[in-house]
Amino acid sequence: MAERMHTVEVFEGVRLPGFICTPESLQTACSFQFQDSDVLLVTFPKSGTTWVQQVLSLIFCEGHLWPVLHLPNWSRVPWMEQVSFSHLLSQLDPTRPRLLTTHLRATALAPALRKSKTRVVYVARNPKDVLVSFYHFHRVANFLPDPSSFEDFLDEFLKGTGFFGSWFDHVKGWLGLQQDLNMLLITYEELHQDLRGTIRKLSNFLQHPLGPAEEDLILEHCSFSFMSQSSVVNYSLVSTHIMDQSRGKFLRKGVVGDWREHFTPEQDEKFNAVYQAKMKDSGLQFPWTIG
Ligand code: A3P
Repeated sequence: MAERMHTVEVFEGVRLPGFICTPESLQTACSFQFQDSDVLLVTFPKSGTTWVQQVLSLIFCEGHLWPVLHLPNWSRVPWMEQVSFSHLLSQLDPTRPRLLTTHLRATALAPALRKSKTRVVYVARNPKDVLVSFYHFHRVANFLPDPSSFEDFLDEFLKGTGFFGSWFDHVKGWLGLQQDLNMLLITYEELHQDLRGTIRKLSNFLQHPLGPAEEDLILEHCSFSFMSQSSVVNYSLVSTHIMDQSRGKFLRKGVVGDWREHFTPEQDEKFNAVYQAKMKDSGLQFPWTIG
């Protein structure tokens, strides 16, 4: 795969890193046969995917921490669109619900999902913080191009021409299916504000009630400080040729509102105008205020 490090895979008009996605792997994702017991975590990159992968693994681990402590997040909750998916899927514990992840857009997966009662957990994050986190991640991940400047990166994000496409289309596409699919929306900000409450909300949706001791165990193992030190979630197991964390950590800051440290007032104004134009008719409610 090393020769595909800088390959760009264009899928439904969206640029994806060819290092992790191929036409075959994308085809596999789109034709996947979901089971009613599957749980699908859906995010735009940098929205808290790894955090919720950890929470989902912990909810279903029934107090047995071995997988959470020893298996990398990408093998516990594999990405459907990635080349490693079929192999990782075959390694999942057949006695537990399959926990899956995707960054793909709704148009790609909705036809397959509609055939099942799969539970879909959509995680959204303030797009200003997504943008900042993604900007830093482009410098760390060698399968994504180095951004030329923050300004250019912001323009690309607003146009939706960057990797993984438009944040606006992603959020509106998936959340537009809330009536159609068995879906729960949670936000990165909610996880921050009330982690225990959000874990409860998730476990209720997943029909997997937790006792107080289980909740405590989950809280302990999904904190930013725990995850930063854990080699199976901090991506330190990945070769530096693929992710060079000397340029910045995967678990970077883990805060709400870091965009304020990055945006100029002009950039903020530009962002707000596009956000208003694109989201005004969406009817979606989020815990952030923009504009
Ligand atoms: P920052 O770059 O803003 O720090 P994803 O997993 O979707 O790629 O998202 C990565 C972002 O989630 C990073 O944001 C990372 O620090 C943050 N994150 C991961 N685990 C977290 C945790 N336990 N608590 C808070 N933030 C977390």
